Amino acid sequence: MRYGFFDDKRREYVITRPDTPVPWINYLGTDEFFGIISNTAGGYCAYRDARLRRLTRYRYNNVPSDSGGRYLYLRDDATGEYWAPSWQPVRRDLDAYECRHGLSYTAISSSLGGISAQALYFVPPGETLEVWRLRVTNERAEAAEISAFSLAEFALWDAQDDATNFQRNYSTGEVEVDLSAASGVIYHKTEYRERRDHFAYFACSEPVAGFDTQREAFLGAYRGFDAPLAVQRGTSGDSVAHGWSPVGSHHVRLTLAPGQTREVIFLLGYWENPRDAKFAAPGVINKSLVQPVIDRWLDPAAVEAGFAALQAAADDVLGALQVDTPDDDTNRMVNIWNAYQCLVTFNMSRSMSSYESGIGRGMGFRDSCQDLLGSVQLDPARARDRIRDLAATQFASGGAYHQYQPLTKTGNDAIGSGFNDDPLWLVLGVAAYLRETGDATILNERVPFSDGGEDTLYGHVERSLRYTLDRLGPHGLPLIGRADWNDCLNLNCFSETPGESFQTTENLSGGVAESIFIAGLFTLAAREFAELADHVGRPADASGFRADAEKMAAIVAEHGWDGDWFLRAYDHYGNPVGSAANAEGQVFIEPQGMCVMGGIGVGNGLATRSLASVRERLATPHGIMLVQPAFREYHVELGEISSYPPGYKENGSVFCHTNPWVMIAEAMTGNGDAAYDYYRRINPSAREAISEVHRCEPYVYAQMIAGADAATHGEAKNSWLTGTAAWNFVAITQWILGIRPELDGLRVEPVLPSEWPGFSATRRFRGATYEITVRRGDAPAGQSAAPIYDGASQVTGVTVDGQPIEGTVVPLATPGATIRVEVTIK
Ligand code: GLC
Ligand code: GLC
Repeated sequence: MRYGFFDDKRREYVITRPDTPVPWINYLGTDEFFGIISNTAGGYCAYRDARLRRLTRYRYNNVPSDSGGRYLYLRDDATGEYWAPSWQPVRRDLDAYECRHGLSYTAISSSLGGISAQALYFVPPGETLEVWRLRVTNERAEAAEISAFSLAEFALWDAQDDATNFQRNYSTGEVEVDLSAASGVIYHKTEYRERRDHFAYFACSEPVAGFDTQREAFLGAYRGFDAPLAVQRGTSGDSVAHGWSPVGSHHVRLTLAPGQTREVIFLLGYWENPRDAKFAAPGVINKSLVQPVIDRWLDPAAVEAGFAALQAAADDVLGALQVDTPDDDTNRMVNIWNAYQCLVTFNMSRSMSSYESGIGRGMGFRDSCQDLLGSVQLDPARARDRIRDLAATQFASGGAYHQYQPLTKTGNDAIGSGFNDDPLWLVLGVAAYLRETGDATILNERVPFSDGGEDTLYGHVERSLRYTLDRLGPHGLPLIGRADWNDCLNLNCFSETPGESFQTTENLSGGVAESIFIAGLFTLAAREFAELADHVGRPADASGFRADAEKMAAIVAEHGWDGDWFLRAYDHYGNPVGSAANAEGQVFIEPQGMCVMGGIGVGNGLATRSLASVRERLATPHGIMLVQPAFREYHVELGEISSYPPGYKENGSVFCHTNPWVMIAEAMTGNGDAAYDYYRRINPSAREAISEVHRCEPYVYAQMIAGADAATHGEAKNSWLTGTAAWNFVAITQWILGIRPELDGLRVEPVLPSEWPGFSATRRFRGATYEITVRRGDAPAGQSAAPIYDGASQVTGVTVDGQPIEGTVVPLATPGATIRVEVTIK
């Protein structure tokens, strides 16, 4: 069952009924000002940091769900009937409803009783404000008197405090209302009197008939957003908030002739004044700097131009890669939605979504490093800055804070530390940046350590690898620390206390637990680093790390192989985890994918054997599960993983992030059919037809899909902010379609499913455009491309502008040029 459809031409997903299984959300904002918005206008916004600079309030896990948003109400003043054009929060049945989620904007349209409305929400590029543009049309044969009410509920900045510290908060709220201009501007200035230099504003383009700034005055006592007293009555209370819960609400009266449309623009924005220019008069905000911004964006022509600029920016970003394959689900994910999701994860890390409250987590170190893999080609300049920020949260040891707050850019241990895989992901992020941009100067940049001192970025990356080598266990495998990529495999935790955090507790220290996953990741990272080192003329470093990678691969082959698959770990007591010898948790997906990606077992049969085990033991029609058999009992020696019911999250769900590792491993070993088959199983667009089962948005990946042990097998959760976005993008574009940036050229080496005759693509790379065509056929006379992975390559020949080349790496084209790349595959 579907709740909408893809409009690929307009790059929108169109939701055709408001009551989706869960709120289907989208993101607003592209630079510093961000928001989430659901298909019924729920959500909130923040400046840079969802925890520390929250502008509006949202109530997670509320009833009804998705409570708090960018609400507009319409009231027919002749009858007193009122409704919300976004359905929520009033939930009156509408005659028509449609929500179009596009790239960083959402438009919700509806009609009731001959009055139609459309609200467009977006953040103009470079601005710290969101536009709500409301258009109301009278489709009746007679004139209509319509009242429009807006509502934004302000958060008192620190979202954590806002949701907990009521003894203070109920007394601190302050606002200003400025009706001096033709339009009404409501300023939210809680704590501006003292240490804050910022305030929020909510402006309206039309003369207002009234306003409210105290929530209770607008709603009425004991009433909800669904039935505000002011709307029911048809007049605002003109309330000025002193403490309690400041809101912004405007009341605009619209007289509409038959067929007439009126437009009202609302702006919800953030502004920071210089510290020495905060006040115009004692206690009164100096508005001279913000006023021109407000005036500009209340102008319909500016709004139109801002929206066009937003779309042009999206065109530009998506222009990095466009493909035309035989599969629509692949095309729309690669060309539109997966690329967009990569940008969103780059911007948000794991901070704000329907599942991430914006309070729990800042920018994750490992998460953000992996997000780079899918977004570096979309915005290389911002990727460069991000790499510096991440490296600056490292310690001189090479270790790193697990997260940092985007506002302050300083790391913290709030969600744990000592995850021994963390530093290695930086190597992958930096390598991806260099391959995409060729900008080796980044390696010479000096970046500080959080605990003092500094080094070049090259030095940071090298220390990341050394961090692993300095922490090896009894088998010579990497020590796991608090956990590795799998946050829930806590082998030193041993928690018996309810509620204790698995990520911050270590009851048995001096642990010797080792991770085969980190070994695989190390091997991959060390090989990547060796390429970089060679590239910048440091062959000794390169051969050193190549040797370390070889050595680690040999140790994995010796101590990390269980007979039919790679082991997962050794626990505190030296017992194997993820072995046929275990009663539960015999096979884990992570080392199967990652060891093969690191090249371990490729060439001697281990890789293909391990991938066959994945297919036999872990694959379901809804994707590949993380572990089987799932844990039914709590294992104190394994930690959080066994705390989840079987089939959920790390305990045997289809943890989608890991699936592309297996796709890549399949592609590396030449199995295009398997790689593509796995790709389709979790591709959200390919699952659109079973939306009643999948339940999450069909346009973006979710972190997990409930596994075969779960009662709700196939149900997705934690959509949007997941490493699944970056890795699936890498798997499909770089390995299945095979368009892979290298340090000295663009490799085109597809591993396609056998049913595909080929595909075409346009790739922007280092300033040039590569028009790529891939088709089945013989190599041009006299040419044969060298097989790359054990003869796994399908490529029989490559020509550039008609001239055959050796191998599959297309040499760099002159910036500005367009070249034609033709690839034949068998
Ligand atoms: C979550 C975390 C990620 C972790 C994964 C597996 O997605 O954000 O860092 O690797 O869970 O536990
Ligand atoms: C829990 C989740 C895991 C997430 C972690 C973040 O352990 O299961 O997915 O990465 O919390 O701290």
